[in-house]
Amino acid sequence: MKKIVLNDSESRSADVVSENLEHLKVLFPEAFTEGKVDFDVLKQLLGGSVDYREERYGLNWFGKRQARQLALTPSTGTLRPCPEDSVDWDTTQNLMIEGDNLEVLKLLQKSYAGKVKLIYIDPPYNRDGDVIYPDDYTNSVKNYQMLTGQIDSDGRKLTSASEASGRFHTDWMSMMLPRLRVARTLLRKDGTIFVSIDDAEIAHVRLMMDEVFGPENFIAELIWEGANKNDARQIGVCHEYVVVYARKRESVERNWWLNKEGVEPVLKEVARLKKLHGTDYGSASEDLAGWFRANKAKPAFVNRRFRNIDDRGAYKEDDPTAPGGRRFELRNPRTGSIIPLRQNRGWSFDQDQFNRLVEEGRITFVTETSVMVRRYLHETDKLTPSSVFYQPARSASERLSRLMGSGVFDYPKDETILQKFIQMSSGEDPSALVMDFFAGSGTTGHAIQVQNALDGATRRYILVQLPELLDASNKDQKAAAEFCDKLGRPRNIAELSKERLRRAAKKISDENPKYTGDLGFRVFRLDTSNIRTWEPDRNDLDGSLLENIDHIKSDRSEKDILYEVLLKLGLDLCVPMETRTIAGKSVHSIGAGTLISCLEKNITRDEVELLAGGIADWHDELAPAGDSAVVFRDSAFEDDLTKSNLAAILGQRGLRNVRSL
Ligand SMILES: C[S@@+](CC[C@H](N)C(=O)[O-])C[C@H]1O[C@@H](n2cnc3c(N)ncnc32)[C@H](O)[C@@H]1O
Repeated sequence: MKKIVLNDSESRSADVVSENLEHLKVLFPEAFTEGKVDFDVLKQLLGGSVDYREERYGLNWFGKRQARQLALTPSTGTLRPCPEDSVDWDTTQNLMIEGDNLEVLKLLQKSYAGKVKLIYIDPPYNRDGDVIYPDDYTNSVKNYQMLTGQIDSDGRKLTSASEASGRFHTDWMSMMLPRLRVARTLLRKDGTIFVSIDDAEIAHVRLMMDEVFGPENFIAELIWEGANKNDARQIGVCHEYVVVYARKRESVERNWWLNKEGVEPVLKEVARLKKLHGTDYGSASEDLAGWFRANKAKPAFVNRRFRNIDDRGAYKEDDPTAPGGRRFELRNPRTGSIIPLRQNRGWSFDQDQFNRLVEEGRITFVTETSVMVRRYLHETDKLTPSSVFYQPARSASERLSRLMGSGVFDYPKDETILQKFIQMSSGEDPSALVMDFFAGSGTTGHAIQVQNALDGATRRYILVQLPELLDASNKDQKAAAEFCDKLGRPRNIAELSKERLRRAAKKISDENPKYTGDLGFRVFRLDTSNIRTWEPDRNDLDGSLLENIDHIKSDRSEKDILYEVLLKLGLDLCVPMETRTIAGKSVHSIGAGTLISCLEKNITRDEVELLAGGIADWHDELAPAGDSAVVFRDSAFEDDLTKSNLAAILGQRGLRNVRSL
């Protein structure tokens, strides 16, 4: 039975360097000598593609090398489950993770590499007052705990970036680069990333994204027009950007589309009227016209020209000619007479298409020589997204204030716009996984909840948010800090994200009592690994030795350990878990037998046969498709013989991947 210790690959997040080396070895086996890369050989093999010039095109800054390295360093932390903060823990497929996003992304790598369809992020824009997370290259989890007030801060605090430090862009870029690099590995081949940003860093974002994703994977730079600014010195800048890249552009769906505004309610009303009036389309059309008049203030009103109903649905009568159309002698296929064309106009179809439309009853002959074409709402309900759009920032703030109270979270993104990003980029995939690792108030989660409720899809989300402390003595954070106090929760931004998700879910349930979609989320919290590192107390060596007999930390629960194993084995954090009592011990099956674990503290010689047999029986019953792992607590065994007996019995029953922690 192999014991997993802190430096084993099973106890760490993905080791990207080793994986890269393996890829390289497959491509260039000659470039490896005794396991190391021989760069001279590699350069020869790459021929003319190597750039030897000192001055070359690219984005550079002090600290870039270290930032790049940071993306490759595995995390030694873990994610601890928090069922008490979660909603529908047992059934939900959504995740809300509290922690520094770089550590969290690294921890998620094994489980979610190549699985995320859409990443949306809205990082700090690096404006005055924005806090830029200062990564620590030596002990990142401890650094995180200090910065979020979980352990003594040692004077370390999250402070805002200041242009005066002279490293204004440098710090921001060093923070962003490793996060984008790790994020890329999580994207599916047909996945895309949307990054919100403004003028302060747009130039750097474009270059950095070109470097990380490749310029060939650039999709668009969207212009989001928000509010007009009258206080600008020269030009009132009233827009920001959303930069869109693909993991692999050629794999992304060719046609992105959005539902046209206000179409859904009209289609619903038409269905209702057809049920009510049957084939009496005259009465149904009359009622539809009345319905439009009663809904003048609603988005559906823009579709008011589609006020006629026939057996196909709602339609409008349209002029089939347009300037620049096809000019030819169109004939009425029934009479053979020529239908005259107005000056400077042409037909929108050719003769064959026209004949087909007549046959299908889609042409109305106003007179024998004057025609109209029926255009149906359900056939024109999609449009290609545009690179420029307008949505004032104020409306999202007002909606969030109504949900959470005024001043609790300033400048949230607009969930209706995020719904559009989600729709356009994951439209064909009803269960797409969407991620936002600068979650803030949780707008992306809210957008998924609303969009799923609207179109019945089962998209999932993963949000990551720093529990950034809120200071009641800071006027900008006072309302948020008091909001947390009122909830009886710690004062930090992750609490706001969770509460928004809860409230948004409740609103959806209240408004759609019959909706049974997933409105829950599992909360996890970044922490140090459950496995102890050997850090002896010099003044109490005996005590340290005794403590390390069990190398699982004493304050960690069985659930903590289970989820660490799950993560390190690369399983989904939402896989179902089942518990049974076998030989008086709690045994857990995770992912229908993919992982079986028993983390009881004592297993005696006498219990081994019954326990191993029971586990093997359960495994047979579950019959998982792939290989299964079985995990025990190393210190639980009465002696080495007990341990090896257990492994031997399991091995005989086909369970050979047996580990201890
Ligand atoms: C501009 S806000 C995002 C707002 C969000 N889009 C919304 O609509 O509410 C950026 C968020 O990223 C968080 N953040 C900054 N550094 C982080 C880090 N290293 N890990 C996780 N979150 C971080 C900040 O606390 C802040 O709430």
